[in-house]
Amino acid sequence: MSKGNIARFENVGLRYGLGPEVLRDVTFSLESGSFHFLVGESGAGKSSLLKLLYLALKPSRGLISLFGADIATTPRPQLPALRRQIGVVFQEFRLLEHLSAFDNVALPLRVAGIKEADVNRHVTELLEWVGLKDHMKSRPPTLSGGQQQRVSIARAVIARPKLLLADEPTGNVDDRMALRLMHLFEELNRLGTTIVVATHNMALVDGLGYPILRLDAGTLATVAGSGNKSAAREWRESRESAEQQARAQARARRERRRGETDEQDADPPGIENFL
Ligand SMILES: Nc1ncnc2c1ncn2[C@@H]1O[C@H](COP(=O)(O)OP(=O)(O)O)[C@@H](O)[C@H]1O
Ligand SMILES: [Mg+2]
Repeated sequence: MSKGNIARFENVGLRYGLGPEVLRDVTFSLESGSFHFLVGESGAGKSSLLKLLYLALKPSRGLISLFGADIATTPRPQLPALRRQIGVVFQEFRLLEHLSAFDNVALPLRVAGIKEADVNRHVTELLEWVGLKDHMKSRPPTLSGGQQQRVSIARAVIARPKLLLADEPTGNVDDRMALRLMHLFEELNRLGTTIVVATHNMALVDGLGYPILRLDAGTLATVAGSGNKSAAREWRESRESAEQQARAQARARRERRRGETDEQDADPPGIENFL
């Protein structure tokens, strides 16, 4: 494994119980400091892939390494230390209901033994940044979905994890807040955190231009770029030019056939390989 990889999957398969494989032959790696979007239809396996990454599930087959350690051969007592380097934004938030928003976000810092004065400063600043200044003392059940989502994001990023995994982190907020939260992730990424964001929001994906991991019914269909923006742009441009070329060739073929048939002006078979 290359030293620059935070995570690596090799031919990973996952099934729940005796059910069918919901992930098949998944192979990819996350370079240290990279930022990826994870996209795919509902049920494609995005949450399952993230769960494998944060060690909530074991693969049915294949190899997963995290921070350079093969998780199948890592002694069980060492797994929590790996897990603590990963910040997770859960799709269903998983906040502690009996604690205030402030205390939920403070938890990772307190667990890490940070001085209370520093905890106070960091948590206050971050909650203000995500627009929850007036809700620090509120308990999660009294907050809206979007507010709980922001508490969950603040808790995931507060301790500057090495790897941040966010499962549909902007599903409950408006477009403006979604962009603001993505900027928070970008800031964290600049500070060195490797990031994977599972999302349905293609406007965000297209707007920000990071490389894409695309799941199609449990199979990883596309791995684009190496995890930085310029690589992603290059990939996008090469994809667009391949697409243009294929269209131009198809047009030329149609021109040649003109008069022989009254064929529809459709894309040629195989164009999907370029999309
Ligand atoms: N705990 C579970 N038990 C059985 N099947 C599951 C479980 N969680 C997810 N699945 C199935 O795995 C597939 C992928 O689900 P999921 O990873 O949640 O996809 P996504 O996050 O892309 O919507 C789906 O067919 C789903 O029904
Ligand atoms: Mg999901």
